[in-house]
Amino acid sequence: MKNIAVLTSGGDAPGMNAAIRAVVRYALNLDMKVYGVERGYTGLVEGNFKELKARSVSNILQRGGTILKSARCPEFVKKTVQLAAIEKLKEHNIDGLIVIGGDGSFMGAKALSGHGFPAIGIPGTIDNDIAYTDYTLGFDTACNTVLEAINKLRDTMESHDRVVIVEVMGRHCGDIALHAGLGGGAEIILVPEMPLNMNSVFKKLKQNKEKGKLSGIVVLAEGVGCADEFAKEIEAKTKMSVRSTVLGHMQRGGSPSSRDRYLGTSMGIHAVRLLSQGKSSRIVGIKNERIFDVDIVQGLSIKKKFNKDLYKMAAIMST
Ligand code: ADP
Ligand code: F6P
Repeated sequence: MKNIAVLTSGGDAPGMNAAIRAVVRYALNLDMKVYGVERGYTGLVEGNFKELKARSVSNILQRGGTILKSARCPEFVKKTVQLAAIEKLKEHNIDGLIVIGGDGSFMGAKALSGHGFPAIGIPGTIDNDIAYTDYTLGFDTACNTVLEAINKLRDTMESHDRVVIVEVMGRHCGDIALHAGLGGGAEIILVPEMPLNMNSVFKKLKQNKEKGKLSGIVVLAEGVGCADEFAKEIEAKTKMSVRSTVLGHMQRGGSPSSRDRYLGTSMGIHAVRLLSQGKSSRIVGIKNERIFDVDIVQGLSIKKKFNKDLYKMAAIMST
């Protein structure tokens, strides 16, 4: 394999740049040429390729976002569009592709591999919602961003004897809420994987008040509901002063943590190694601290398990 391409797709995540940098520099080291594809599958369909050299990826390791830009390309589900993209790749003599993105983006990589074009996936999404890997790129940085917010909110909530509902990202996956909530000592964590019982929320806050705990942090994953509505309902029931904060897209940005730079770099190198060995249809991950790869179909068939034990422990820790 002589010429490869790399793209970022779906929601961006801190650490994507670290992965791009690793792909470029390791591939150059193996005497390959590397092309960057702009705006995910949209760029692939348009043939929007630019050659990346070692200096093209200077000074990006510490930057959030993605220098290749990201996009959603709904028409990429169509076989005709996928085949047209392969034609564009072939026109540029590109013989392998690395896709950095979430499980949706991996479906595109799976389709390309299915049509005989070698593709490898690197999991990049803050949600940590991909089951075959312990962690996805960007999750650690996003949790640190949430923690920073919780620390600041804790100061003001404590001063005013208030409760705050902090809404974090995660439509179907409560990992950000769980990990950042645990780290921030949240009194209550609400995630889509666990049944919602508002009465137990009211009860816990009232019990806390009786114990002398007059302020509190409730971390709410966006998939459970809207922070403002929760705040109004909790204020009405508990008669406590309740505020809400939606952290939103700030969780997707920011300088990647040491962990995400390590993951991006190691996964980028691993992906290039796979292509250089003539492998295709693989997705890279980390399991028990070891970087590994798995067949894309097999990897995507694994169902994510929520860590219920850790969830219970988080409640015990915040008593
Ligand atoms: P993420 O990769 O973060 O999960 P999305 O689910 O939005 O994000 O997917 C990103 C892109 O991946 C989509 O806009 C589309 O271009 C491509 N994609 C998603 N699902 C498929 C599919 N079933 N087949 C081919 N491409 C897909
Ligand atoms: O990257 C995943 C995610 O962060 C979700 O948790 C969130 O709901 C979504 O992206 C929002 O993304 P956008 O505004 O780009 O559609």
